[in-house]
Amino acid sequence: MTNEQEKTFNIAIAGLGTVGCGLIRLIEKNKDIIEFRTGKKIKIFAVSAKSKEKKRAVNLENIAWVSDPMEFTNFDQVHCVVELIGGHEGIAKDLVFQSINKGKNVVTANKALLAHHGHEIAVLAEEKKVNVYYEAAVAGGIPIIRTLMQSLSPNKTSQIIGVINGTCNYILTEMEKSSLSYETAFNKAKGLGYVEADPELDIGGIDSAHKLAILSSIGFNQKASLEDINTNGIKHISLFDIKSAKELGFKIKLLASAKVTEHGFHHEVAPCLIPLTSPIAQVMGSENIILVESNFIGKTYYRGAGAGEGPTASAVMADLINISGDKVKPIFGIPEQQLQTIEHSIREFENSFYIRINIRDEPGALSHITGILGEYGISINRMRQKDHKGLEAPIVLLTHKTSAEKIRTCIEQLSKDDICIGLPVCLRIEDI
Ligand code: HSE
Repeated sequence: MTNEQEKTFNIAIAGLGTVGCGLIRLIEKNKDIIEFRTGKKIKIFAVSAKSKEKKRAVNLENIAWVSDPMEFTNFDQVHCVVELIGGHEGIAKDLVFQSINKGKNVVTANKALLAHHGHEIAVLAEEKKVNVYYEAAVAGGIPIIRTLMQSLSPNKTSQIIGVINGTCNYILTEMEKSSLSYETAFNKAKGLGYVEADPELDIGGIDSAHKLAILSSIGFNQKASLEDINTNGIKHISLFDIKSAKELGFKIKLLASAKVTEHGFHHEVAPCLIPLTSPIAQVMGSENIILVESNFIGKTYYRGAGAGEGPTASAVMADLINISGDKVKPIFGIPEQQLQTIEHSIREFENSFYIRINIRDEPGALSHITGILGEYGISINRMRQKDHKGLEAPIVLLTHKTSAEKIRTCIEQLSKDDICIGLPVCLRIEDI
């Protein structure tokens, strides 16, 4: 091998959407600094995407085009396959598995693939002695994967809480800032290109659950499984809830939470009320934030752009630079066999809750509702009912600490009660 060949790291990129094109642009623009810092030349050996004809703002003239990305795995010269196709099945999955099988390193931004098949990928990568890096899969430009894997590694993690879906944070921010309805804010997010092709991934909390499963695998050395993450989205949040929360001193954020509690492991994605003064409440628009609490550092916060061409391409590029020089490492920090199965518990976990119920405005309605809460042993801390017109009265209750199980069964009963109009909205209050 010539000296030049030794210093060249050949990559093949599958998927030329926003991130793929951003990566090509970054490699062109920051070539000097990358070579200076790494002593290596990152060369794009080949690219592949659905359509060759599509107009793109990058020059592909001097790069080999391959119509089927699976062909990348047949080139001995390719050191690393970059998977930027997306989706947890189909071509993205096949490409990642085949690349590993053929001894190629992989860099991917595919959170869904890692959340669904991360452990199979980990086992195969260990067997084939290759690296699979995925910094861009969680929170785009925020370097949280490497931080958890390396900088925080001497610590035991007690909690990871994040706002890790920019689309939902944008929608909730717009509702709050501009008094928009959920539907209007959603359409605005869509117009800006924030919403995933399948909107349910964002607004149903699934995208956050994918990212949380990845963070938990590393932060808690566990075999995180999507089925264990209790996942709720933001569709049922109204402008009334946002305003009521604010008047009571809170903001509503879609939180992805993983924490060790005395009752077991709590793993959830749900819209929650957090104090207006919390650092997490300051994160507006499409930004992301992650709080990691660990035993020798305490709380640390990581905040920045969670998506977009520049931040995501930068995260992919950082992985490529690292992978070009690193020894083989287990993908979740420790060998897959050593990851633990953790007992989950949401039932006994105690919190205060926000409950909004629209009730029929008739004599005795309020005492009927508070009576039901009393039957379940749920104590009310604060209560509000504003002047209103019509036959429907929205009431807001904040409870004292109670178990999620009591709240769940109580809300189930309230939902069936004739005095309630529509479904009650019940949100956990997270004191962070
Ligand atoms: N749909 C994701 C978000 C994109 O809104 O955060 C980045 O993963």
